[in-house]
Amino acid sequence: MWGICSRAMVKLGLAKPSGLVKPCHLVKPVSPTRVTGRYLTHQNSLPHLPVPPLQQTCDRYITALEPIVEVDELQHTKELVEEFQKPGGIGERLQRGLEKRASNTENWLSEWWVQVAYLDYRSPVVVHSNPGLVLPRMNFRDKQGQIRFAAKLIAGVLDFKTMIDNESLPVEYLGGKPLCMNQYYEVLSSCRIPGLKRDSVVNHAKSSQPPKHIIVVHNFQFFVLDVYNSDGTPLTVDQLCVQLDRICNASLQTTTEPVGILTTLRRDSWGKAYINLIKDKTNKESVTAIQRSIFTVCLDGAMPQVSEETHRSCAAIQMLHGGGAQWNSGNRWFDKTLQFIIGEDGMCGANYEHAPAEGPPIVALIDHVVEYMRKPEMAQSPTVPLPMPQILHFSITPEIKEVIEEAKQSMNTLAQDLDMRVMVFSHFGKNVPKAHKMSPDAFIQIALQLAYYRMYQRCCATYESASLRMFRLGRTDTIRSASSASAAFVKAFDNPRLQNTEKLDLMEKAVKAHKSYTNMAISGQAIDRHLLGLKMQAIDEKLSVPNIFKDPAYAKALHYHLSTSQVPSKTDCLMCFGPVVPNGYGICYNPMNDHINFAVSSFNSSKETNGAHLAQSMERALLDMWTLLEQTPRAKL
Ligand code: COA
Repeated sequence: MWGICSRAMVKLGLAKPSGLVKPCHLVKPVSPTRVTGRYLTHQNSLPHLPVPPLQQTCDRYITALEPIVEVDELQHTKELVEEFQKPGGIGERLQRGLEKRASNTENWLSEWWVQVAYLDYRSPVVVHSNPGLVLPRMNFRDKQGQIRFAAKLIAGVLDFKTMIDNESLPVEYLGGKPLCMNQYYEVLSSCRIPGLKRDSVVNHAKSSQPPKHIIVVHNFQFFVLDVYNSDGTPLTVDQLCVQLDRICNASLQTTTEPVGILTTLRRDSWGKAYINLIKDKTNKESVTAIQRSIFTVCLDGAMPQVSEETHRSCAAIQMLHGGGAQWNSGNRWFDKTLQFIIGEDGMCGANYEHAPAEGPPIVALIDHVVEYMRKPEMAQSPTVPLPMPQILHFSITPEIKEVIEEAKQSMNTLAQDLDMRVMVFSHFGKNVPKAHKMSPDAFIQIALQLAYYRMYQRCCATYESASLRMFRLGRTDTIRSASSASAAFVKAFDNPRLQNTEKLDLMEKAVKAHKSYTNMAISGQAIDRHLLGLKMQAIDEKLSVPNIFKDPAYAKALHYHLSTSQVPSKTDCLMCFGPVVPNGYGICYNPMNDHINFAVSSFNSSKETNGAHLAQSMERALLDMWTLLEQTPRAKL
């Protein structure tokens, strides 16, 4: 992923009842008190991201193109690649430059990646970059329930923050290897700042006076809520309830301009408006308070009632963009790294700005918060009265007002264009592929290839994010799910002349090929970030960009009709994001043990795409592959 109420939730099989189905355990700190230096010691023990060998990447690039380009295009690319990697050529020079960069930096890729994938990106962050996260519907249905839930959620996030502050967060592992924990230290107290050509991110957690407040948005009005008592203890749930109640009462009417809607603009337009906005001293102070805050809580107004069936799709829309200016898109600050969103009808989740982190750390935080909220509440002693939370004032000039109107319109257009389908595939989850000794993730990705092929009779460039967190400051690389093996399988599957044993053999090969690409990617040996690095190195050295990067096949390889990501969680939640190309799909999934949650997005303006059809095709592909597995005798593994 680089990234209006939906028509319908695609109900495939019986949806699970809402609720947190899987018991999980609170993340326990490794120490009850601060462990100074633990974070750095861990980070320094992690390996550096390697630079893969040049010839390996060139060979793998050609292999990756095979299923998605025409024979003559491939021949042309082969010639360009040959020229690029010839002894003494430009490829070798760039490779040397990259290796030098790798030996002089903590991570040769991360800074470039954040710049290219996020900060230079000029489309609005909303839908195009920020993911949404949907939690199961909660049990409250009114304002008081909303406030109590929000108070508990804030207390849970502050509990997690203690582990970050104390450096006592347990280290995570993938495939037995310890992971980089840096992203956890970037998600609180930080914010993206718009720029005319490039944005930036500020993190106030490491400042000499780290923030002690959060921002609460209600009826498009922003309030500063101090969440620590003067003795340094976090406010209790009861104290938070009192403060949230005061905020809601102080903002019963929508009397102000929805200044938050400005953060939905294209980044260059917002960058220009931002300079104008903060010329005013009060505006500057208000914006700084939002940027410095630990996180934001958006208390949304009542929404039209929807059936339980459509609830998750509607919730995904609220979490992703707020439904447009007439609903909640102005009740957000989309530049804020972490925003929790709570509706009056039990809808809840989050939206996060992607530059500082990937989904898994956000989901881990949310898993902790959900589990924390399940704990029985302790009886709390009466407390001293707290000061009234401060409203943030904005002085809106006619010029800014005009930009706000533009932002409302462009947000509404975007909201109407986005189609979002949440599908709960309830026939099986990770359990079935595991029982058949297959990687569940690979199984799902191959099913997606089959679903797409059945709709379009072709394979397409497919992106799946792979974690590079085994390396210091690692972010992601790309797993290219369309492979020659997957192409052979999807082309064979509906061929009535083939035996099931042949189809099963092709399926096993496709699943294995995907798993092996995954292993290659998470160990830093995939091709996409290496190719990007070589291109960036050319730009850095002020050399002309080599022809392989101007090749139509390269553009085709980067035009991801399918942009996908697995974000697993303990809680029965689901992340969602928009497509990365106008005629593509954005697909996020959470494979639980016995069911799989999918979010499928596409643009209504594209005549090529249809989210409902893809979701149905996906269900059919998963079921057909399951049937093939169950009904076909397998050679002994
Ligand atoms: N037989 C039996 N079980 C198997 C198996 C096999 N052949 N292969 C895998 N499994 C098991 C695993 O042990 C694991 O078990 P668990 O549920 O007890 O943990 C489970 O199946 C899942 O494994 P798999 O489906 O292969 O996926 P994964 O957990 O290795 O994840 C990626 C694969 C690509 C998603 C992961 O490596 C990754 O990079 N994640 C980060 C993605 C990211 O950053 N996304 C966010 C972008 S915003």
